[in-house]
Amino acid sequence: MSEADETSPSTEGMVDYDANSRAQKEHALGNADVIADLAQRVANRPDDLNITDYGCGPGQSAIETVRPALDAWSSLVPRKNVSVCHADQPGNDWNALMSLVAGKSGYLNRPHPPLVSAAVGSFYERMVPDRSVSVGTCFFASHWLRSTASFDAPDTVWFADLTGNARHEMWRRAKEDWVRFLRLRAEELQPGGFLFVSTIGAVPEAGEINDTAASGRGIYRAMQAITKSMTEDGLLARDVTDNFVFGLWFLTAQEAREAFEEKSGLADLYDVDTIDVIGVDGGGDVFSSYLDDPLEYASKYVGYTKAFAASSLRAGLFEPTLGKGKDTTQLEAEFFRRFEELYREKTTAYALEQWHLKVILRRKDS
Ligand SMILES: C[S@@+](CC[C@H](N)C(=O)[O-])C[C@H]1O[C@@H](n2cnc3c(N)ncnc32)[C@H](O)[C@@H]1O
Repeated sequence: MSEADETSPSTEGMVDYDANSRAQKEHALGNADVIADLAQRVANRPDDLNITDYGCGPGQSAIETVRPALDAWSSLVPRKNVSVCHADQPGNDWNALMSLVAGKSGYLNRPHPPLVSAAVGSFYERMVPDRSVSVGTCFFASHWLRSTASFDAPDTVWFADLTGNARHEMWRRAKEDWVRFLRLRAEELQPGGFLFVSTIGAVPEAGEINDTAASGRGIYRAMQAITKSMTEDGLLARDVTDNFVFGLWFLTAQEAREAFEEKSGLADLYDVDTIDVIGVDGGGDVFSSYLDDPLEYASKYVGYTKAFAASSLRAGLFEPTLGKGKDTTQLEAEFFRRFEELYREKTTAYALEQWHLKVILRRKDS
C-alpha cells in the first residue's frame, strides 16, 4: 500500500456551489430549531457570544446556519456582544460568501449586526482563539479527511467499498482525524459551549459490503463505473485509477461514538448530548421530482456531483494522467459526459440515498 500525504484538495474550488447545494441549504433550514436551542442554552453565560461555522463553504447555507443563533441572541440578550466567524480553507469563494453576508438575504442589515470574521485554514488545525466559540457548527464538511491517501484499490474510488488492509488503514486514518477534529474544537469552545456536527453518515446493513450502507453509494458507484470504462478505453492511466480513493469517510453512529470510548481523552472534554445517524425523509433523492424527464434528472446529478467531486477527480485522477498526453479539461468533460449518459439511461439505479450523522457535544466546564 502506498501513501501520499498531500494536503487534501477536499472541495476547494467547488464549481457552482450555491446553485448545486440545495440539499445543504435545506439541511441548514431544517436544523434551525436545533441551532436556536443551542444558542438559547448559552445565551446567559458570562462570555461574549460567538457562533463559528467550520467548513462554511461559499453559499447561502452558511448564512442560514448562523441566522437562528443571531435571531435567538438578539431577542434574548440584545445588549450582549455577538460575533460570527465563517471558517474554511483558503480556496473557499470568500468573495461570494461575503457578498451574501452583506446582501439582501444576509444578516448584516439587521438593527444590531454582529461582528463578522473569517478564519482561513484547516479544521484539522486550530482555527480560532482559545475559548472563543459559544456555538460551533460544522455541516457537510467533517467527512473530508485531513490528507489524501492512495491505496491499492483497483475496484473502487470510494472508502465504503474498500476491503481488507486498505479499509483497515483508511479507517485508522478516519478515526484519527475525527478525534483530532474534536480535540481541537474543545480548545476553541467556551466552557459550556456546544459543538453541532452534522454530515453525511452511514448505517449498518446486513449483506452490503462491510455490512454498512453509506450515503451516496449510488453516486460513488456511478463514478467508479465511469472510472473503469475510461480506464478500459485507455483514457485514464490504470496505475493512477488503481490507486485513487476519495479522501472521505462517512461515520456510522457506532464509529462516531468510538472516539469517546477509547483513551482519546474526549470523554473528559465533552458531555455527549446526541450521536445518531438518521435516514432522510423520502430516502434522499433530492432530484426525484425530475424523474419524468431523464435528461433533466441526469443533468441535475451532473451539477450536484461536479460541485463536490470535480476538484478531487482533477487532483487524483485527471492531473496525474496528464503526463500521458491527455488534457485535464477534456478528461473531465468526457467523465461527466459518460456520467450524464449513465444517469439518463439508468436513472434511479444510481439515485442519491442519504443518512445524516448528527453529533451534539457540550464542552465541559473545566
Ligand atoms: C459541501 S461543503 C459544505 C458547506 C456548508 N457547510 C454547507 O453545509 O453548505 C464542504 C466545505 O467544507 C470545507 N472543508 C473541507 N475540508 C476542510 C478542512 N480540512 N478545513 C476547513 N474546511 C474544510 C470545504 O472547503 C467546503 O467549503
